[in-house]
Amino acid sequence: AIENKVQALLGQMTLEEKVGQMTQIDFSVVSVVNGQDAENPIDQAKLEDAILHHHVGSILNTPTTPNNKAQSIEKWRKMTQTIRETAARSRLKIPVIYGIDAIHGATYTQNAVLFPQAISMAATFNTELSFKEGEIAAREVKASGLDWNFSPVMDIGRQPLWPRLWETYGEDVHLSSAMGTAYIKGHQGDNMADADKAPTCLKHYVGYSYPLNGKDRTQAWIGERALREWFLPGFQAGVLAGAPTVMINSAEVDGIPGHANYHYLTEILRGEMGFNGFTVSDWEDIIRLHTRDKLAATPREAVKMAVMAGVDMSMVPFDFSFYELLLDLAKTGEVPMSRIDEAVSRILRVKYQTGLFERSEPALAVEGNFATEEAVEVNKQAAREAIVLAKNDNEMLPLRKDVSILVTGPTANLLSVMNGGWTITWQGDAEELYPKDRPTLLQALRAKTSGKVTFVGGQRFSDEINIEQAVTEARNHDVVILALGEKPYCETPGNIDSLTLDPVQMQLARAIFEIGKPVVLVTFGGRPRIITEIADKARAVVLGFLPGMEGGEAMADILFGDVNPSGKLPLSYPRAVNDILPYDHKPIEAYEGNQYRPLYPFGHGLSYTSFETSGLKLDKSQIKLGDNVEVSVRVKNTGQLSGKETVLLYLHDAAASVSRPVKQLKGFKKVELKPGEQQSLEFTLTPEDMSFIGLDMKRVVEPGEFQVMVGGEMASFTVLKD
Ligand code: IFM
Repeated sequence: AIENKVQALLGQMTLEEKVGQMTQIDFSVVSVVNGQDAENPIDQAKLEDAILHHHVGSILNTPTTPNNKAQSIEKWRKMTQTIRETAARSRLKIPVIYGIDAIHGATYTQNAVLFPQAISMAATFNTELSFKEGEIAAREVKASGLDWNFSPVMDIGRQPLWPRLWETYGEDVHLSSAMGTAYIKGHQGDNMADADKAPTCLKHYVGYSYPLNGKDRTQAWIGERALREWFLPGFQAGVLAGAPTVMINSAEVDGIPGHANYHYLTEILRGEMGFNGFTVSDWEDIIRLHTRDKLAATPREAVKMAVMAGVDMSMVPFDFSFYELLLDLAKTGEVPMSRIDEAVSRILRVKYQTGLFERSEPALAVEGNFATEEAVEVNKQAAREAIVLAKNDNEMLPLRKDVSILVTGPTANLLSVMNGGWTITWQGDAEELYPKDRPTLLQALRAKTSGKVTFVGGQRFSDEINIEQAVTEARNHDVVILALGEKPYCETPGNIDSLTLDPVQMQLARAIFEIGKPVVLVTFGGRPRIITEIADKARAVVLGFLPGMEGGEAMADILFGDVNPSGKLPLSYPRAVNDILPYDHKPIEAYEGNQYRPLYPFGHGLSYTSFETSGLKLDKSQIKLGDNVEVSVRVKNTGQLSGKETVLLYLHDAAASVSRPVKQLKGFKKVELKPGEQQSLEFTLTPEDMSFIGLDMKRVVEPGEFQVMVGGEMASFTVLKD
């Protein structure tokens, strides 16, 4: 039925109306100047020009002028209502789809429930939490009057220098596909037209996350085999989960900018992966084919190149140049009508699928749908499970609640460092705008302890810390909590030249260690900064990454043992700047002196109890090509406390025509066990799990031996020749 509606509508549209649908503008194009303070910042004349004259199909972003700050939900509802009503006055009443980066909850409003960022959600290894985060994000997007969420990132994160690493679910393709799939399913439900569901957007297709020099929006060299084995499967999983939109890689892979890559955008995404939603460019990226990449001699040629490669909607975002150029290209026949019709059909289809045509007001009320008790509870749970206890010598943790503590370091008393970029403001660093009702780590520690807590630090990340005073105070306390890490950042402004911690933090840490007091190192930040020297000397190390607005309390819960940690690393934590290697590296990386020796490996994470996995069994030791193998294993809580454990199952192809990783994650399960309790877990290994990209660049399962690894155990099976 939707298909008929799409075709019927398309049949009535003028060329101008079609090209307008393919145009996405920034909110500033339709807002009053300095809309920050207006009750409804829309400039009606500008809006009418955009919608009634230029027929724009989509608007994005926050009421930005001049500072990109988040707004109240009420303001969002008013703005989007004005947009809705204006679109309803257009000739064909085609609704505008409003997109937003609600990447860890409704980050565009100060009323937000700010979840852990994706890297921290991945550390929970809990797909149910990811599903619930998706449900909550969709509900809040809709209760704000918005339509479409530019999330999740499905590129994998294995370049720690890259300033958007934390927007990924980490270095592993299986984990990241599982977390992303769960999020999409929660967000979209069975029917995206439901009032509390909303469409997602897979980002940033493909290979954006792997820049050679670590800088944002620079070149990646990803050969076709690696692309197919490590970078495409996450997107394929997202397409299978039903994501109806895909945002394109702003940078380039193997010399071809994402927005000009016909092979990726059309042959692979459509032809091979079966995606039938629409693609949207990233910010200004079509024009950059001319201004930056020099692929196109003129802006006009850039528009033609991108549209013909497979870009359906252009995030222009500040003017109508795309509209005008494409209109002209279509009139001269340089861009065929069939291509315009194809792109517009895809956009209309999503608008029908998401129920936009039936909506004359915000889909949900604020009351009962925004920042609900359940949302807050899920968020707390996510933050607790996201934190990784990496080291705990001689049971240094949990701390007794009556010890005296010196807290020092730049991340101890800020909410922004736990939330990261895309929060309240683009860079996430406007500490003063964060919700005041959630505690920083320092405040949470103070609320929980009966002992003395002294703080030596600043009110902003960059404030100088009086090292002398910190050392003096350290002498007078039982324990030092050293809270280090990064200030928030996003995209290109987050570029760095080295993963080392800044010299001032190193100086503070060294001065503290000199006096020999026990130190607990706590870190917050979006990427693994090199902490080896400090971690070696600290008695305990707790890695917070970006646990969101509940992070302060969750961290304090873990430090005092009110919560038993269960987070595991979704990436290999590098030991040195020149030693960056994912866990699923090739045998050559472990040969003749080479070795995988991260500070903490992928999947590492301690608990206050202990677990034992044993009894690994396969249902068959030999299978025919195309058969599954059933795996079972037992996990037991062998310690004194209840806790959660994630059991990770790895597979290794013992010999193949293409070099294979030493191991690859193929399954994981998280369970909660009381002391002494045990549980049997079952996994199914499918032919897909046993396959790889063969010599002819196609997926293949080669007969021979495979090894299954769980915990410390290994079992093998053989795939027989036909
Ligand atoms: O969704 C984002 C993208 O991740 C980076 N560029 C801007 C887009 C819209 O805000």
